[in-house]
Amino acid sequence: MKISRRAEGIAPFYAMEFAKKAAELEAQGHAVVRLNIGEPDFGPPPAVLAAAREASDGRPLAYTGAIGLPELRTAIAEFYGQHFGASVDPSRVAVTSGASAALLMACAALVDPDDEVLIGDPSYPCNRQFAHAFGARVTLLPTTPASRFQLTSAEVDAAWNADTRGVIVATPSNPTGTSMPHDELVTMCDLVADRGGWSIVDEIYLGLSDPEPDGRPPRSILAADTPGVAETVVINSFSKYFGMTGWRLGWCIVPDDMVPVLERLAQNFYVCPPTPSQHAALACFTPESLAVAERNRREFVRRRTLVVDGLAAIGLDVPVIPDGAFYVYLDVSATGMTSAEFCDRALAEAHVAMTPGKDFGVDGADRYVRLSYAASTDDLTLAIDRLATFLGTRP
Ligand SMILES: Cc1ncc(COP(=O)(O)O)c(C=O)c1O
Repeated sequence: MKISRRAEGIAPFYAMEFAKKAAELEAQGHAVVRLNIGEPDFGPPPAVLAAAREASDGRPLAYTGAIGLPELRTAIAEFYGQHFGASVDPSRVAVTSGASAALLMACAALVDPDDEVLIGDPSYPCNRQFAHAFGARVTLLPTTPASRFQLTSAEVDAAWNADTRGVIVATPSNPTGTSMPHDELVTMCDLVADRGGWSIVDEIYLGLSDPEPDGRPPRSILAADTPGVAETVVINSFSKYFGMTGWRLGWCIVPDDMVPVLERLAQNFYVCPPTPSQHAALACFTPESLAVAERNRREFVRRRTLVVDGLAAIGLDVPVIPDGAFYVYLDVSATGMTSAEFCDRALAEAHVAMTPGKDFGVDGADRYVRLSYAASTDDLTLAIDRLATFLGTRP
């Protein structure tokens, strides 16, 4: 079969490729510690599971509106107000089939062929593919530990040219777990809007952020009231903070004039987000469920300390300590291996699955490895112990 040039150009998502290799080893009887996929091990709060059981009582579970149940859109808008300091009209919320569909539709709505889109390196690999799928020319802008592996507004400003149309950032980021300072992000969105461009800000890990340096709770970009922010597209999901990866439910918050566009795209692309998941997700916003999610966030912070300290003790450096999500981006250059070799050998010899930097970009790709600490304390301790044996660096 003749496959399209566009599809041929899509690189594998190596984190998933390592999942396949890990499954092969497990089929041979090896116990692999899987630190390659960004998937919370907690599952959803109990009330969500109860609501899902209730929704499975034989009712037809028909299609909903293309951008979701009105009561869920309202609940999400209230959540943004109460937790992230942003006053959002429910009419601007579109419920989607995961953040993935939100990103895909945002790119469908905003990208024309040959537009240049700026994305930081390293970053979530699928973003490049979403933009590319609609004909964008993606420019990866290298970031450094000095800016916590995030773009700065000055870098975006310097890179902007006549072909540039937009920028995509995730804060906190995958693969580094680091955030862009709120004011810097606002400055970036304002300068992009000033140039007639668009910004997509992926806040999928915002619920799993540490408080800001001044002790304030993490704020959405939408907490700022500037002309640029009013034009910004915000992405979020039930996958990470609420532990609902397989439920395929997320959302985006978009400027008023984009709502009917997203509605048309969703109608055509997949009709509506999954109905059972939407009914269940309504139970995310009770005080009990939010308390569970907050407990889980704190547990991730404990695990982060365990992992960062454990890696340091066996000679693996994490150059930037994360402030959110559940990833560390570790520098393996001191081992003399490239990150791809390190990941291949760590999986084959130590049965620890991680993801090489080449999944996330080009710059520094041979040097860095992403480790997801969304795993139990026992598994994380076992992984560090196995890596110590593998590297011969047991303290
Ligand atoms: C930064 C980022 N955005 C989007 C996604 C996709 O999430 P979802 O499961 O909501 O489609 C992920 C998943 O890992 C992610 O890390």
